[in-house]
Amino acid sequence: MSPHALLSHLADGRFHSGQDLADAFGVSRAAVWKQVKRLQQLPGITVHAVRGRGYRLDRPLELLDAQRVRDLIGIPVATLPQLDILDSVPSTNAYLMARPAPPAGQGYGCLTEYQTAGRGRRGRPWVSDFGRNLTLSLAWTFDLPMARLAGLSLAVGVSVADALSAMGVRGVALKWPNDLYLDDRKLAGLLIEASGEAGGPTRVVIGIGINLALPDACAAQIDQPWADLRGQLGEQPPRNAIAAQVIAGLLHALPRYAQDGLPPFLARWQAYDLYRDQRVQIVSGNQITRGRYAGVGADGNLLLDTPDGRCSFAGGEVSLRPAGTP
Ligand code: BTN
Repeated sequence: MSPHALLSHLADGRFHSGQDLADAFGVSRAAVWKQVKRLQQLPGITVHAVRGRGYRLDRPLELLDAQRVRDLIGIPVATLPQLDILDSVPSTNAYLMARPAPPAGQGYGCLTEYQTAGRGRRGRPWVSDFGRNLTLSLAWTFDLPMARLAGLSLAVGVSVADALSAMGVRGVALKWPNDLYLDDRKLAGLLIEASGEAGGPTRVVIGIGINLALPDACAAQIDQPWADLRGQLGEQPPRNAIAAQVIAGLLHALPRYAQDGLPPFLARWQAYDLYRDQRVQIVSGNQITRGRYAGVGADGNLLLDTPDGRCSFAGGEVSLRPAGTP
């Protein structure tokens, strides 16, 4: 009896007696209890044990299911020949980066219930509890030199924002270069890692973390205002359906980007833009530049109107903040 198998039984959030579970798995009740204690160690998993009634999770859980995600994606298997779903992994990005690159025009995907060392941008951690949120990566190979991928993170941001909007989320916004916001708080983040020869092809691993239902203990570890999709999409937003929508969106967006670059995505990016016309500051190391935010240029650079004229900033190590933030 694997922890995953036991969790699948308990996922409905109802009571299951120790005897029923023992019978289902062909093990002793003591073995069930031992496994329940293991589950209790997973961050975000609480199993109630009540004498005479059995075990139940504190709330229902929707575990990831590769076949369901594939069925919902509705894209030929040849486009996504590999879709790994792991109970836990240090980082889905690291997992795909360590594997061979997919052939051009095909994606390798990886989703996990739980990352033990999730990576955020600028060396920050990305925290997420077991089975409650979405942490996924997609590897893709472009027949393009790396320099042509400068606008990719914006195109991916649009694709994920579209996917969430299509799932019924209202008010998704994009914060340059590629954070997703809801009600002025961070909802999701993207981490794109690339490798390859300077002249191409370039393999990218696109990592996406979306807060669906962040429990308080997990949220306490996040050092900035955050949002999740609870409320808008129910107490436990549908994980497989959202994952499928996001992956399907990427499988359309990436070939489009390969062919036409950022321009086809720009109008939609602007429609999601969080800061349009606001006073902002750009922080680059110790240097702060203040001005009025003038959107993004055709190359994906941020445009800032300052007293000295219009400045353009590439993504990477600069960060964008509202004016007046320390
Ligand atoms: C950010 O800092 O905003 C980027 C967060 C990216 C997190 C995702 S979760 C799936 C993938 N695997 C990782 O280790 N990081 C990305």
